[in-house]
Amino acid sequence: MMSRKISVYIHIPFCKNICPYCDFCKVFYREKLCNDYLEALEKEIKKYYQQEVCKTIYLGGGTPSCLSPVALEKLFKIVSFFQKNSHTEYTIECNIEDINEDKIKLFQKYGVNRISIGIQTSIPRLQQLLEREISKEEIKRRIDLCKHANIQNINVDLMYALPSETKEELEKDIDFFLSLNVPHISTYSFMLEPHTKFSLQKIELASEEVDASMYEYICTILKKNGYFHYEVSNFAKEGFQSSHNLSYWNHDEYYGFGVGAAFYYKGKRGSHTRNLTAYIQGNAMGHVSVLTQEEKMDYFLLLGLRKREGISKKRFQKEFSYDIKKVYSFDSWIQKGVLQEEGDFIYLNESYFYVMNTILVDLLYSRKIPEKGLQTFV
Ligand SMILES: C[S@@+](CC[C@H](N)C(=O)[O-])C[C@H]1O[C@@H](n2cnc3c(N)ncnc32)[C@H](O)[C@@H]1O
Ligand code: SF4
Repeated sequence: MMSRKISVYIHIPFCKNICPYCDFCKVFYREKLCNDYLEALEKEIKKYYQQEVCKTIYLGGGTPSCLSPVALEKLFKIVSFFQKNSHTEYTIECNIEDINEDKIKLFQKYGVNRISIGIQTSIPRLQQLLEREISKEEIKRRIDLCKHANIQNINVDLMYALPSETKEELEKDIDFFLSLNVPHISTYSFMLEPHTKFSLQKIELASEEVDASMYEYICTILKKNGYFHYEVSNFAKEGFQSSHNLSYWNHDEYYGFGVGAAFYYKGKRGSHTRNLTAYIQGNAMGHVSVLTQEEKMDYFLLLGLRKREGISKKRFQKEFSYDIKKVYSFDSWIQKGVLQEEGDFIYLNESYFYVMNTILVDLLYSRKIPEKGLQTFV
């Protein structure tokens, strides 16, 4: 067995309802279609998985939790094929309305130890707009079911800057999310995606100012309540950062299995077809590109700076044999206090997270590979 550790993302493209804002790769759930899909998924995994021990496994969607108990058990049996150890983080993405005692028992039987729950909002007016209606009491009851089953590693997804959302509504929403007392909160600024019902309706978006002020409010209040802002949009109590998402931001390699799944494996970055029929017929591949050394460096920078801890100069040196400060021009940003340098790390000052794209573009344009012989080694 190889000792290299890897992360695994598995896409389950089924949903019981199609939300008017969502452009993820998904279709209506049908048992027969799901069975065919799981067969194709099993073949793909058995063909490509190289028996590495998995650091993380993430069942995402779509909505993996909407599968019938029989289909869900079949999925878990397929996933049992992966090598795990006692540290493997094993997450399933769930819609809150799918969570019940039977499903939780099934999750536990197969070793799932983290649940990521899409709630989005608790405000009835906004739930109606998103077509995601569920009472606060029901949300709380279902989260408590997870906790009572001793699944403590819980994430909840919150959407903000929703069309017509007011500051007061966001404040109430955050109060409610805090009352759930879960250790991880992922936040999503509403985006109008093409090919969605909302985009056809030409729904009115929140202004930049509203979006920015809501983001600032979320960051301040979550921090006050003991959540560490460890990535631009993610907040966690100590010990509960998502290892799976960190593997993306650390530019570690990961498999992507299933329709539409992205991957970064053996230096190749790509994604699978979004065509479910083609996938079921065994034609999984979408586009793939072999990353150049420069592209790998750029990914290292732009993914790494999303994290509060930033990028490790030593790790860059180890991976690319260059001094990162000679490759990218950090100095003017460091002088302005936008970037900070502390020991081995260069990181973005938290108050500039919101405008990080401008900074990243500037850094990427500054890339200059020093001539051989000028490079320094730590
Ligand atoms: C893979 S999706 C869906 C997970 C799950 N099926 C659900 O709906 O709760 C993960 C998250 O993306 C976010 N999301 C989806 N569409 C979005 C959009 N148009 N704008 C912002 N966030 C979005 C939602 O917060 C959602 O929970
Ligand atoms: S938001 Fe979630 S439940 Fe809604 S369509 Fe997208 S993946 Fe499915």
